[in-house]
Amino acid sequence: MTEFKPLVFSGVQPTGNLHLGNYLGAIRKFVALQENNDCIYCVVDMHALTAQLVHEDMPTQIRSITAAFLAAGIDPKKHIVFNQSQVPQHAELAWIFNCVARIGWMNRMTQFKDKAGKDREQASLGLYAYPSLMAADILVYRATHVPVGDDQKQHLELARDIAMKFNLDFHDKIVPTGLGIDIKVGEEPVHAYFPMVEPLIDGPAPRVMSLKDGTKKMSKSDPSDLSRINLMDDQEAISKKIRKAKTDPDALPSETEGLKGRPEADNLVGIFAALADKSKADVLSEFGGQQFSVFKPALIDLAVEVLAPINAEMRRLMEDPGHIDAVLRDGGERARNRAEKTMNEVRDIIGFVR
Ligand code: TYM
Repeated sequence: MTEFKPLVFSGVQPTGNLHLGNYLGAIRKFVALQENNDCIYCVVDMHALTAQLVHEDMPTQIRSITAAFLAAGIDPKKHIVFNQSQVPQHAELAWIFNCVARIGWMNRMTQFKDKAGKDREQASLGLYAYPSLMAADILVYRATHVPVGDDQKQHLELARDIAMKFNLDFHDKIVPTGLGIDIKVGEEPVHAYFPMVEPLIDGPAPRVMSLKDGTKKMSKSDPSDLSRINLMDDQEAISKKIRKAKTDPDALPSETEGLKGRPEADNLVGIFAALADKSKADVLSEFGGQQFSVFKPALIDLAVEVLAPINAEMRRLMEDPGHIDAVLRDGGERARNRAEKTMNEVRDIIGFVR
């Protein structure tokens, strides 16, 4: 049985400041994966329009996410770094996926419900169709692995559903053209054009929580800046936010079991573990029995050690927007070539005349 060539794809929206959740849940994993994989990392600027159409600072936001990718260590020559709007094939495939996906599937998306809020009638059609564009982002390269934070899990399940329905609906067109590949879905071999994408969500911090409330996700939209560490925060801000982070009065446990029911302790230990490339169990074997008055200064030192060089490099890169734009243009061109190959095959499978 042949297999899809492993290819990593992921994206980050250029909306607001990047925070520690984006870094540990996504960007740090992007960097690790590039050692042994072919990778495509995208600044998903078209997605940024779904919640708010006009962004005065769109170019700066796009460059700042790109700068974060580069500063964190992604190599744009060996891999591909680009912004989504430079590859119109994403939108073209998304339209086809809009016709594959069922309204019932979209209605289950919890992120749409959260983002649309109470006044759903006023949400954009783009916000509703967002997961279909996300599936197209990945599948226009027939990517197989997608590193993301835990909040994107449902969207990736939808991408699998869309891929599966496309494969089944066009089965009679895919097989004779020889364009598909035999994959195993459960026990069944299926001749598939699109792979079943695998989410890469594991690690000690798949869902980094707010520093003010261990039951809420760390997010760009939290009104309190003390709830998150931004990648552009300086040493003083990082230190202040960790010192003020909510905790409970008990000492740290020696085993991960002891973190149950202690969301703030669990979150800080997870952050430490992810920053140190260790497991939570390793961190607890070092700090078990210690008070937060000992653990927090160690976490501050580690966070500053990891984040300060990224912060400095982002600032340096942001002073040369011409260089960042050249990286995006070069990546855009290479991504476009790959995406066009897929689209030509998709057009043939569907039966569009070209
Ligand atoms: P976005 O821009 O909201 O977030 C970028 C990445 O950061 C992760 N993340 C977190 N991880 C852990 N803890 C947190 N508190 C936290 N907050 C955010 C997200 O899971 C994400 O991996 N829909 C995506 C962007 C996207 C995409 C794609 C991703 C568009 N197309 C195709 C993968 C593949 C999003 O809004 O991410």
